[in-house]
Amino acid sequence: MADPMEFAAAGPDASDGRIELGHAPMDAIHREFYDCMDALRGPDDRAESLLALHEHLLRHFAQEEHWMRETAFPACACHAREHEMALGVVSEVRRRHDAGDAEIVDRLAEELPQWFAVHASAMDAALAEYLRTGGGSSAAAHPCAAT
Ligand SMILES: [Fe+2]
Ligand SMILES: [Fe+2]
Repeated sequence: MADPMEFAAAGPDASDGRIELGHAPMDAIHREFYDCMDALRGPDDRAESLLALHEHLLRHFAQEEHWMRETAFPACACHAREHEMALGVVSEVRRRHDAGDAEIVDRLAEELPQWFAVHASAMDAALAEYLRTGGGSSAAAHPCAAT
């Protein structure tokens, strides 16, 4: 079976620092993500923490995709594909955890924040700027435009 963590190698190394993008609603959702990751590393029941993370990501990504559709954000498909891939990874980690693989959760706790740092600093940053400025010139800088 494919390595469920293959997404972590998709981008450059990134810091674990908390990213703020200057769009208050998005920054609030991102703080929830960091809280979910803190919970996953903490003493709480891991199945519950994984479920909370999964539910958070479904809501987090649905909100960003709603903003993209609502504002006709250009080239939103590649952003949504990254969301879909991350949700697939979390689903697979939950499945493996339920099957008795505890180590896979450690890997998720280490590697998902790295993926998120890359995703947030490229995809989410472009969307946040678009939402802040009402679109226009920022569309040309969208990360999908270069591919
Ligand atoms: Fe995000
Ligand atoms: Fe995103």
